[in-house]
Amino acid sequence: MRKIPITLAAFGLAAYAGFALAATEGDAERGKEVANLCIACHQADGSGMHIEGGESWPRLAGLNATYFAKQIHDIKTGTRVNATMTPFVNMLDDQKIADVAAYYSQLEPTAGQGGANADEATLKRGQQLAERGDWSQYIVSCKSCHGPGNRGAGDVFPGIAGQHAGYIEAQLKAWKEGTRKNDPQDLMGSIARRMSDEDIHAVAVWLANQSASSK
Ligand code: HEC
Ligand code: HEC
Repeated sequence: MRKIPITLAAFGLAAYAGFALAATEGDAERGKEVANLCIACHQADGSGMHIEGGESWPRLAGLNATYFAKQIHDIKTGTRVNATMTPFVNMLDDQKIADVAAYYSQLEPTAGQGGANADEATLKRGQQLAERGDWSQYIVSCKSCHGPGNRGAGDVFPGIAGQHAGYIEAQLKAWKEGTRKNDPQDLMGSIARRMSDEDIHAVAVWLANQSASSK
């Protein structure tokens, strides 16, 4: 038994945190209670809200539970900086994080908001970036990582189709400005830094108009 902690010490604290995260199993029933802290912004159905010109609250319904838990831990440790979320993540221990992540992952995804008034040229450019990329600017298509229909792939690549436009835009800008640097190998940072604000807007409104589920 003594061997386990020694091995973990050799890997350092980060590896241990990853181990603890993977080992904590979530209970959706208990997570529903925790979610009472979250509904003021993320809404009772997990739909969140796009606020034009303001801070958009992301849809949490249907998000992958492992990705969800990672985000809460990342905001706690500061590799992802957000002043609005900070007081709430600090109320949660590892068990509560796993529980609330399990709860939201089971909710039916709701529709993306904030793309309804986009013009055709903007949507066309957004679709190009999302599905084919733009080799003249070294931008890989979003779906090459975010999966078919940009609906997510495994625990590492979250679904971004049907997410709110304002939230998607805010994340790409956060990577550009360096307030979000929690992505493995700078995968998102290196893309966001190559994108103009116009392209960021275009891909965000196009994705907001897509469905989060294949149904
Ligand atoms: C006062 C409003 C507010 C409350 C209450 C709130 N959040 Fe958030 N949440 C936000 C905002 C704003 C963001 C986007 C942060 C950013 O831009 O990085 C966010 C982001 C998130 C994300 C990241 C989603 C993603 O796709 O990466 C998760 C997960 C999350 N919140 C979970 C929770 C949980 C769990 C609670 C309750 C314990 C909660 N939030 C309470 C406003 C709120
Ligand atoms: C090389 C792989 C890769 C490509 C290509 C890629 N992404 Fe990502 N993206 C990631 C990873 C990995 C994450 C999760 C980072 C983390 O763990 O927080 C992510 C996360 C995101 C998020 C945050 C989602 C959330 O719920 O908070 C947004 C928004 C996003 N990507 C948009 C895009 C867009 C738009 C494109 C295309 C222009 C794109 N990505 C292309 C790897 C990629």
